[in-house]
Amino acid sequence: MKCRITCIPGDGIGPEIVAQAKKVLERVAEKYGHQMEFQDILMGGASIDVYGEPLTQEAIDKAKGADAVLMGSIGGDAATSPWYRLPPNLRPEAGLLRIRKELGLFANLRPAVLYEELAAACPLKEEISRAGFDLLIMRELTGGLYFGERKTVVENGVRKALDTLTYDENEIRRIAVKAFDIAGKRRGKVTSVDKANVLDSSRLWRAVVEEVAKDYPGVKLEHMLVDNCAMQLVKNPAQFDVILTENMFGDILSDEASMVTGSIGMLASASLNDTKFGLYEPSHGSAPDIAGQDIANPIATVLSAAMMLRYSFDLDREADAVEAAVRQVLREGYRTGDIMSPGCQKVGCSRMGALLAERI
Ligand code: IPM
Ligand code: MG
Repeated sequence: MKCRITCIPGDGIGPEIVAQAKKVLERVAEKYGHQMEFQDILMGGASIDVYGEPLTQEAIDKAKGADAVLMGSIGGDAATSPWYRLPPNLRPEAGLLRIRKELGLFANLRPAVLYEELAAACPLKEEISRAGFDLLIMRELTGGLYFGERKTVVENGVRKALDTLTYDENEIRRIAVKAFDIAGKRRGKVTSVDKANVLDSSRLWRAVVEEVAKDYPGVKLEHMLVDNCAMQLVKNPAQFDVILTENMFGDILSDEASMVTGSIGMLASASLNDTKFGLYEPSHGSAPDIAGQDIANPIATVLSAAMMLRYSFDLDREADAVEAAVRQVLREGYRTGDIMSPGCQKVGCSRMGALLAERI
């Protein structure tokens, strides 16, 4: 199979971690007889430095022309980087929001798994972490507060800012369908998270999710208020299978869920549209403080590449091989600094990539 992949190395540790994922994908291609065709585009600060904007139309067209996009991370230190002295629509994050919208990537899948080998890194009490957990946050990605009308005005000498949270039933239905489809292939449970005790958008969300649920008799649906969900994630994360939620709640809850695993450097994500096309990126950020030192953990990006093989190319066997290589390397005791524990062997970013590729 020929896989045409557009890569966005991006900023901070992005280029280092994407290089490792490419290494692993090259090895997959060699072993299983595929062809990987990579093409890089600039986004975020890297694009601002060259073109004065975080994403060019040409870059969008190149991404659209590929089968899938593999991304590292974008953005810098907001306190010190000159990128953050630009108007908001020209800052690195604006590139990410634009590519999500332009490519119609409305479904953001963020798995949070407590790896047995890394259970010690989990910040929860042992009686909670012992149960382990394996959940997936299905976050709506192209609607809600992120894309509603927004403005800042001065009224009678008083500054006032406005952001609007809008969803129509079609936007809710399509993300709910994705959540139920995936839950059907997992443990058969959807927890739909909203703030229906306050927000109209949440009451519509709840009603539409219930309509969709009727088509999935094998999947159990429960509703949970977002504040309670934030609490349940640290109290009893094992209760969750698929968490379905709107854009902003998903942004917040997915950071919380990844912290609870104790190893954000391990967590992958996929952003999908209605076709096989997707953008795959680690759940973590660009970590500018450790960029260029060859100490970043490339595993989240490598696991994102595995999601790409699975969802965009239907290469399940190859995706399984990548995930198995990750577990094997952990079992053998290799660790990057962020997941290091006593008795293990510390390795850098590039060596971790090589170890993973060797085990495919
Ligand atoms: C994420 C990030 C982005 C978001 C930022 C960088 C705009 O936090 O992917 O979760 O809020 O969606
Ligand atoms: Mg976020």
